[in-house]
Amino acid sequence: MLKVGVPWWIDPEWFDRFPSGIEIERIEAAPARSIPVEFWIAPVLPRDAAQALPHLDGLKVVQSLYAGVDWLLQMLPPGLTLCDAQGLHNIPTAEWTVAAILAVLKHFPFYFDLQHAGDWRRRREADAHYRAMYPDAPPSLPPVLQEELSGKRVMIVGYGSIGRSIEERLLPFGVDIIRVARTGRDDVESISRLLDLLPLADIVVLIVPLTPETTGMIGERELAAMKQGALLVNAARGPVVRTDALLAALESRRIRAVVDVTDPEPLPQGHPLWTAPNLFITPHVAASSNMFLPRAIDFAAGQIARYIKGEPLVNIVTGHY
Ligand SMILES: NC(=O)c1ccc[n+]([C@@H]2O[C@H](COP(=O)([O-])OP(=O)(O)OC[C@H]3O[C@@H](n4cnc5c(N)ncnc54)[C@H](OP(=O)(O)O)[C@@H]3O)[C@@H](O)[C@H]2O)c1
Repeated sequence: MLKVGVPWWIDPEWFDRFPSGIEIERIEAAPARSIPVEFWIAPVLPRDAAQALPHLDGLKVVQSLYAGVDWLLQMLPPGLTLCDAQGLHNIPTAEWTVAAILAVLKHFPFYFDLQHAGDWRRRREADAHYRAMYPDAPPSLPPVLQEELSGKRVMIVGYGSIGRSIEERLLPFGVDIIRVARTGRDDVESISRLLDLLPLADIVVLIVPLTPETTGMIGERELAAMKQGALLVNAARGPVVRTDALLAALESRRIRAVVDVTDPEPLPQGHPLWTAPNLFITPHVAASSNMFLPRAIDFAAGQIARYIKGEPLVNIVTGHY
């Protein structure tokens, strides 16, 4: 009988979604004994995974519940099969991206501050913020109290599973899209053209995996190539953007940014990013919706069913099966 390890925090009430003919072992965060497990649904916290891994005996397949497996790949011994959860985060991460873009264009962070201050009249300051980013904008009455997404050109850097979902949700807003991936193909630009393309975009969305090539992909040169007042959206991983360069670009009022991920992460108290101008931060929450667990369990259940039947697994990152 196949022994499947699941993180301790998965409630047994979900187990009836798994195929029959398996033995489920709930793996504690720091097991005190060796546990026979052939197929492991890895925990989502790196520390939990690192503590459990040495205690798993006979392990062959590791199923991540995350699309990004950079952290997990680093800790696995060679010879194991690792599958990621590509596709599982498409909906929440794409929705976060649209919400984040609209929140900035509609100046929601500023208006939320006003709400807390109980101050309606200061809403006119939004116009001053707008003019600080766009010094060449013509004078306007009534003042500019929000901006429109319609008509903007959005560059999606990382036209994979989530990138396509972002595009699908942005198109109804009437935007132009520039798609960028590692390799160029029909209607998708190659990353080698990044510096030529950046000046064309009003909004630059990063949704690439963290790899040696993408680490520091957006630095001083790239930020300088962006349009004055353009919006950088990092839904990928913190180190894709160089923090020192981002801080300098924000402080000089060159660009605006909204980030779900930072470098370092967690962002320590007192870090200058917390108070950088024109920056809206969410603390790495984009993929973590209320629908995550049922979707993840169903996906893992499908993989276990394939494994039992000897069918090829999907989303293999390394190894075979
Ligand atoms: N903020 C969050 O909570 C959150 C949630 C989910 C995922 N993520 C991050 O988002 C990443 C993407 O997820 P996904 O499911 O969309 O992955 P995916 O389907 O594998 O797509 C990745 C895309 O990135 C492109 N890419 C890879 N290396 C590149 C490079 N050096 N330059 C330019 N483009 C490059 C790939 O290009 P090719 O098509 O040419 O291979 C592909 O289009 C994950 O790895 C994870 O780090 C973050």
